[in-house]
Amino acid sequence: MPTVALVSRKGGCGKSTLATNIAAYFARTGLPITLGDLDHQQSMRVWLKRRPSAAPTIAGWVGDMQSSVRPPLGVSHLVLDTPGGLHGLALAKVAMVADVILIPVAGSVFDRESASDCWAELRTLPRVLNGRCHVAAVGMRLDRRTDAEEITSAWASSIGLTWLGSLRSSQVYVRAVENGLSIFDMPPNVTGMDIEQWQPVLDWLRQHGFVQSTADEVPAAMQGSPSRLGGMSNVRILPRVKNPAIASPAEAPAAASRGFARFVPRFLRPRG
Ligand SMILES: Nc1ncnc2c1ncn2[C@@H]1O[C@H](COP(=O)(O)OP(=O)(O)OP(=O)(O)O)[C@@H](O)[C@H]1O
Ligand SMILES: [Mg+2]
Repeated sequence: MPTVALVSRKGGCGKSTLATNIAAYFARTGLPITLGDLDHQQSMRVWLKRRPSAAPTIAGWVGDMQSSVRPPLGVSHLVLDTPGGLHGLALAKVAMVADVILIPVAGSVFDRESASDCWAELRTLPRVLNGRCHVAAVGMRLDRRTDAEEITSAWASSIGLTWLGSLRSSQVYVRAVENGLSIFDMPPNVTGMDIEQWQPVLDWLRQHGFVQSTADEVPAAMQGSPSRLGGMSNVRILPRVKNPAIASPAEAPAAASRGFARFVPRFLRPRG
């Protein structure tokens, strides 16, 4: 099951922002995405509750850091938001389930130092050492008018951490999250440059399993059969709200309009 986890020791660096945007992008391409939340703040739950019914469906799952962080049966593509400060056993648990870990890094030396510590710990874990869990950094809110991008990418290269470029500070993220949306759900005329900056991140995730495969087609026998879902009791079925700010279908990527619903297990869909 392709799983991407957003991890950082530092709070407020952009984990949840990355999680919502990644989930929404891949939901638009037709993947049956589940957005998992290991953070007691439950930002993902808040965001999913605000998500308009017209937006591509994303299932929600609330995991428990104290026990297993492994998602229930039936989840096929997982985007996992985590709390700040992960280290030790909690970090090892996340690395056990993640195929890829993204570390958001903001522009200050404190952020880089904190991310260095996180990477130093991650690279000692067996699944990272043996190449089953890939780790990369993404710059968050780096000011394009300064040399912040240059400094941060040089820092990543100096510690052998894959660098996927950066996302600038933009109010479009703030506006999107208010409405349960991602920048991929917003009209192109307000997101042009911000969308372009996502390309390396999305390409890297595609390389690591976030692509449509025949396995994503739900076997007919499983559709609408909650009785077959052993551990699904903690999948929260979230209500939907209407929001006119959603991009029209014509503005969505073609794959999305080709019917993501066909691929989303009925039991994972929020009720309308
Ligand atoms: N590229 C960006 N441009 C503008 N604002 C941003 C950007 N990325 C994140 N933010 C804002 O920064 C704040 C912190 O982001 P976010 O909640 O994603 O961080 P976090 O790492 O999940 O925090 P926490 O550790 O508390 O869970 C939010 O208000 C978010 O809207
Ligand atoms: Mg968060």
